[in-house]
Amino acid sequence: MKPLVIAIDGPSGVGKGTVARALAAELGYQHVDSGAMYRAVGWKALQLGVPLEREDAVAAIASGSTIEVSATMVAIDGHDVTRAIRTPEIDKAAAAVARLPKVRTILVERQRAMGESGGIVMEGRDIGTVVFPHADLKLYLDASAEERARRRANDPAHSGPVALAEVATALKERDRSDSTRAASPLYAAADAIVIDTTHAAVPEVVAQVMSIVRRTLAGER
Ligand code: C5P
Repeated sequence: MKPLVIAIDGPSGVGKGTVARALAAELGYQHVDSGAMYRAVGWKALQLGVPLEREDAVAAIASGSTIEVSATMVAIDGHDVTRAIRTPEIDKAAAAVARLPKVRTILVERQRAMGESGGIVMEGRDIGTVVFPHADLKLYLDASAEERARRRANDPAHSGPVALAEVATALKERDRSDSTRAASPLYAAADAIVIDTTHAAVPEVVAQVMSIVRRTLAGER
């Protein structure tokens, strides 16, 4: 059987990365964090002083840059930006460039190419709806805004304010931007399995998802 294409979507701070990483490791699949690509483009635009609402200029950055996303590192044009892209400033910049349809077209095309031969777990906001509408398995992780803010504040990969109230305010603003934008807004695909993780610990969610994957691999769903 061809290795699966697994799409994981959901709002910021829900734990998609942790679940996707664990799943990919367990299955021996490639794990791709598509958000890191929007972050890398936002980072480079800021470096070059390009206003984030200038669609053509930002799209030119996206198309002219080499973006590498591996399990351990994110690089743009050979610069390691793994840590630099996990800041409150880049949270905002990524959400701003992600609103631009021309930027999305370029990144979606690259994301599809990565999934061509299957064996991939890709996480993001539009993976099950736009990038891989025919994914073998679509998961949509959700959690309350309060719980997501708490998780984000405790995430060692992210630098910046640790005051919960500040994290919560920024997260709500990003939720609003991601789910109300015209281009590929965040929502659960009609055929996605929605999992509310508000009261579940990571190992529990991973175990639940793995049992769904096993059923998918066995052709039971
Ligand atoms: O997942 P992460 O928080 O790193 O994504 C950063 C931003 O990139 C999101 O707020 C969202 O605006 C955008 N994004 C997107 N589509 C994806 C992944 C991320 O629009 N597939």
